[in-house]
Amino acid sequence: MPGLFITVEGGEGVGKSSNIAFIRKFLEDSGKTVLSTREPGGTTLGERIRALLLDARHDAMSDDTELLLMFAARAQHLDEVIRPALARGEWVLCDRFTDATYAYQGSGRGIDTGRIAQLEQWVQGNLRPDLTLLLDMPVAEGLARAGERGAPDRFEREQLEFFERVRTGYLALAKAHPERYRVIDSARALEDVQAQIAAVLTEVLR
Ligand SMILES: Nc1ncnc2c1ncn2[C@@H]1O[C@H](COP(=O)(O)OP(=O)(O)OP(=O)(O)O)[C@@H](O)[C@H]1O
Ligand SMILES: [Mg+2]
Repeated sequence: MPGLFITVEGGEGVGKSSNIAFIRKFLEDSGKTVLSTREPGGTTLGERIRALLLDARHDAMSDDTELLLMFAARAQHLDEVIRPALARGEWVLCDRFTDATYAYQGSGRGIDTGRIAQLEQWVQGNLRPDLTLLLDMPVAEGLARAGERGAPDRFEREQLEFFERVRTGYLALAKAHPERYRVIDSARALEDVQAQIAAVLTEVLR
């Protein structure tokens, strides 16, 4: 089996980063070579773009600038990391990807989906994730989990309604792409979340 491209999506504090480590180990225990990475970021240049995007001092950043920076970081990530790893037959595990752009910049900020789709086609060609795990839970609970980590970044400073739109956007994406999406109830205890993820991975590995 050639490597698969797996993305982990969801709003603030739903447990993406926590579960990436679990997924990685699960796949490695099944004999796969796994490259785990994140967006925005994943390269030296991309991490610098990430810092610009998250810096709460940049409150004057326009929505289009935000969108283009996301895709600039993604272009670098694809060229430098993701495409080469997939070409080597590795499994690529990514903490957020283009669906986050549809959810945050599209549903959250209100940028027209057609414009995002144009950039997606330009930067990715036909490359899409093979599997997307959407960690879903009530917005307030996720924010409470994330809130224990200190000063809010530029996104974390948004209002509750913004994150509600993001969640609704993600659930709409899951509905639109049922062939690659699996929705995980991440409001539960960590071991329960991991059991749901393990069931999906077992199905994928079969
Ligand atoms: N199932 C769970 N139950 C309770 N707490 C959890 C659970 N999963 C993760 N956490 C805790 O919630 C916090 C947020 O988790 P994590 O950083 O993995 O979320 P995230 O989705 O990566 O957040 P962000 O969107 O900010 O990157 C962490 O402190 C983590 O330990
Ligand atoms: Mg995280």
